[in-house]
Amino acid sequence: MINKFKSHFKNVQNFKTESQIDLENFRIKYLGKKGIITDLFKLFKDIDQKDKKSYGKALNDLKKEVNHKIELISKKLKSQQKISNKNFDLSRPGFPFEIGSSHPISIVKNKIIDIFSKIGFGMSEGPEIEDDWHNFTALNLPKYHPARDMQDTFFIKSNPEFLLRTHTSSVQVRYMEEKTPPIRVISPGRVYRNEAISSRSHCIFHQIEGLYINKKVSFSELKQTIIYFTKSLFGKSKIRLRPSYFPFTEPSAEVDIYWGLKSEVDHRITKGTGWLEIMGCGMVDPNVLSNCKINPDEYSGFAFGMGIERIAMLLYQIEDIRMFYENDIRFISQFKKSNFLN
Ligand code: DAH
Repeated sequence: MINKFKSHFKNVQNFKTESQIDLENFRIKYLGKKGIITDLFKLFKDIDQKDKKSYGKALNDLKKEVNHKIELISKKLKSQQKISNKNFDLSRPGFPFEIGSSHPISIVKNKIIDIFSKIGFGMSEGPEIEDDWHNFTALNLPKYHPARDMQDTFFIKSNPEFLLRTHTSSVQVRYMEEKTPPIRVISPGRVYRNEAISSRSHCIFHQIEGLYINKKVSFSELKQTIIYFTKSLFGKSKIRLRPSYFPFTEPSAEVDIYWGLKSEVDHRITKGTGWLEIMGCGMVDPNVLSNCKINPDEYSGFAFGMGIERIAMLLYQIEDIRMFYENDIRFISQFKKSNFLN
């Protein structure tokens, strides 16, 4: 009798198959109503009392082995099926594509480009590794000018004449050097500053620069352009221009928009004033025009520059600038078209 168990045991252990049907037949052969194990159970009552214990144990072991084998093979078959798609049912409906989302920086950048393109501004980009001339000197920031310290700069170690641009104002210079007025251009891009990283500032961020050069451009045109912009982007047209200083513009101003004080968030982000700073601007300094071979007696113009992260943080109420660069899918996927009114 024990030999019989041994041979069954061996057969079970040696059993191999790649097919679900064979596996099912194997199950029926052993565990089915008329299966081997069921039959062996039936014989139990006729076994001598003294042999009952060993018979029972052998029978249970065999049953365990059969179940174990079935489980093992069916797991293997399932995983194989997944890989090879052997039994792929072509008539089944397909899986929908996971549609990705634009990064919030891109969304806001494109919105701004769109707004300015409607009033005739083209787009121009420049290099991120810039030379001293385009980033500083041509912008009225000669060597040793104290205002260079306004922007902590990453210099290229092997040649400090080159640096990672600290602002997109460098693209103004490149554009003016190449083109003749009238000029209407905006320049988006990544900029770098050697700043401590915190929830409000980062060493890499994005700006958009605007430039308009023509005959007899006035400050009021600058103001109207900004009002058009804030109205289009934020739906708000109450702004104020605070006198400020930038070496490349004279006069210079910082633009605040009246954000309002309706909610608790409004209070917090405006520090209780209702006003929010959104950009720097001014009339292009005649020195900058001369540096770029444009005659300041004939032409004048305005320029402005803003941080894209800052605008995106306001629009989407993002609390921490670091979120933009961490590529956390939980953050980014919130900007899917279906989730947001892009
Ligand atoms: N480049 C300035 C900055 O990075 C921003 C800026 C201010 C740009 C005034 C301009 C401007 O064109 O007119 O802080």
